Amino acid sequence: MQKYDFKTQPSVLIQGAMDTETEYLIEKLEERETITLGNWEFHTGFLGKHREPVILSKTYQGMVNAAAASSLALAFFSPKAVINQGIAGGHDTSFHRGDIVIGEKVVPIGAMVRRYAPHGAGISETDFEPLPIEIFDRSLGKTRKVLEFPCEERLVSIAEQVKTGGSARRGVLGSADEWNNQIDRILLLRKRYHTAAEDMESAAPAELCLSYGIPFIGIRILSNSIVNGEEFDESVGVEGQKFVLQLVEALQGL
Ligand code: 5AD
Repeated sequence: MQKYDFKTQPSVLIQGAMDTETEYLIEKLEERETITLGNWEFHTGFLGKHREPVILSKTYQGMVNAAAASSLALAFFSPKAVINQGIAGGHDTSFHRGDIVIGEKVVPIGAMVRRYAPHGAGISETDFEPLPIEIFDRSLGKTRKVLEFPCEERLVSIAEQVKTGGSARRGVLGSADEWNNQIDRILLLRKRYHTAAEDMESAAPAELCLSYGIPFIGIRILSNSIVNGEEFDESVGVEGQKFVLQLVEALQGL
């Protein structure tokens, strides 16, 4: 039988920033092969009971790393869908550490225009408007501006049907190179964007997938929730990966 060609044949790109978000799934890959592009490793192979062709990518933390790893993967492979997953911090008190947010969309919470204020007027944290972000929309062949990045509804509803021991519900993911601990700021972000959780990567691949027209979903398990006084525990990342494995097994026919 001819070897599966991950460059040209469809696969699901699964991304995580850290070991706690990627190692479990990398270990589960059958016929694993590793390709290095720039500073990033991409592990190809087959995952789950239906042997779904996947590419596991450890992006490293933050928006630039996530954008670079995504960009390389989208140019080099042929993903039919992208799952950006990992740990996150809670904004919504109804989500607790260990709960999963199935991203219904991603908002770039760091993209803002700060309103003019004269010298000496002080700095207001609330005086901002969301900054529209320019994307190149491949389907239109030109750029347009957007305020948020969608998650693909089919992927969201498949994720909602995954049976899990814990809680997994849909919610808005806020994403930026930020780690917010000021409760009032988190409340403001919730008021403006209805965020359930924040992370530091998902907006980058979500933006690029919108640009390329590739179905995207963000899945985040809460490793901390300052709004509930729940401290950071990155080990929950493994449970997040188990959820993603089930999601991949449910993707048949996508
Ligand atoms: N704020 C921002 N990012 C968080 N992460 C976990 N908790 C938070 C939080 N409260 C995720 C980020 C980053 C790493 C520190 O974990 O996505 O990769």
